[in-house]
Amino acid sequence: MPASSDDLDLAARAGGHLTPVLGRYFERSWSHGVGHRLFDTAGRAYLDFANGIAVTALGHAHPAVSAAIHAQVDRLIGPTGAIGYAEPVVRFVDRLAATLPDPIDSIFLLNSGSETIDGAMKLARRVTGRPAIIAFQGAFHGRTYGATTLTSSSANYRVGYEPLVPSVYLAPFPAVWHEFDGDEARASEVSLARLRAMLASVVPASSVAAIFVEPVQGEGGYLPAPAAFLRGLRELCDEHGILLVADEVQTGYGRTGRMWAFEGAGIVPDVVCIAKAIANGLPLSAIAARRELHERWGRGAHGSTYGGNPVACAAAIAVLDTIEGQGLVANAAARGAELTAGLARLAAEDERIGDVRGPGLMIGVEFVSDRATKTPDGALVDRLIARSADLGLLVLSCGPQHQVEGSPRNNLTVAPGFGMLSG
Ligand SMILES: Cc1ncc(COP(=O)(O)O)c(C=O)c1O
Repeated sequence: MPASSDDLDLAARAGGHLTPVLGRYFERSWSHGVGHRLFDTAGRAYLDFANGIAVTALGHAHPAVSAAIHAQVDRLIGPTGAIGYAEPVVRFVDRLAATLPDPIDSIFLLNSGSETIDGAMKLARRVTGRPAIIAFQGAFHGRTYGATTLTSSSANYRVGYEPLVPSVYLAPFPAVWHEFDGDEARASEVSLARLRAMLASVVPASSVAAIFVEPVQGEGGYLPAPAAFLRGLRELCDEHGILLVADEVQTGYGRTGRMWAFEGAGIVPDVVCIAKAIANGLPLSAIAARRELHERWGRGAHGSTYGGNPVACAAAIAVLDTIEGQGLVANAAARGAELTAGLARLAAEDERIGDVRGPGLMIGVEFVSDRATKTPDGALVDRLIARSADLGLLVLSCGPQHQVEGSPRNNLTVAPGFGMLSG
């Protein structure tokens, strides 16, 4: 697809009317994508490990997804959620529910990850009749007001927006590598004790509607929650009638080498928030919970004009067909093991790599200026991202100082070429 001269100066033209508020990793202009390659407007190909921030997990212009979109778009775009039923929507929720463990069987469709968080907050408050919500320090749950209130991965996401949503409390997250030198058992024990102390002195458990947790903190720096910690949360929630909400917006859909990251801990949350890879790029998201919770939430308690439009649902069915048909969850686990082993070899030779961590293909590489003190080196990561892009590889960063390379956000079918990171 040749670039026109209009395309080539997109960045300059965008300066006119496109908001300067949105942060961008790259000042490059994109023309099209095919599989793992993204092409800029000059026709140069990049190996795309960013994937629209973990969204186009099957790659660009995936033939099955594109065909499903084309077939649906001429038939019915919608939106139809509040008007009635459409075949792809009903078919998709059946398929999605089948990927979730019992008793989670009912799906509320929305458009973005943040919306699922706000919706889950409303569900939890109305169903339990309790006001308080607990989230974890360093978490990222999104940009709407409720989600922003649960977010603390960067002060910039919160500054100037107070008062935020009341009765939200932030508990310490088990920072296994940073604080506990990799000792997961100790990290879990201490973090659960801190949480219980918070319930004893700050907010009583009987006032808490829900605990929100990312099974692997994403934007906060690719920090996996130890299985023992997640099991401890499950027990605590059961003990006190608190709903456990798993934010699987970034971890879900096979990225961690399991369809859902919480499976690794052998727990079942009460509510699961799902988005990003669900429709390989079209806006679609879901709040999943057992029917009884949806029923107690109540008819008309929540709504959405666009949520669950038929075209996005048709794409989402093709995504599940592809994941299941090609065994891509197992593939993410296998490719992730290879990648982690390779990165561990690099880390053994390079003092600047402090840690390599994460399940499946949700792998973070933490860069430090001093291994002994674990001092983060965000500036090095910025240079690495820029240099990698110049060499034709797109990678992104995360962590409070953006010191972690979130390696490939393409969770399912990682392309070779990761060695370019050190180039
Ligand atoms: C864990 C998590 N939750 C929620 C969100 C918000 O999703 P969205 O940007 O679609 O609103 C994100 C986005 O990065 C995320 O990583």
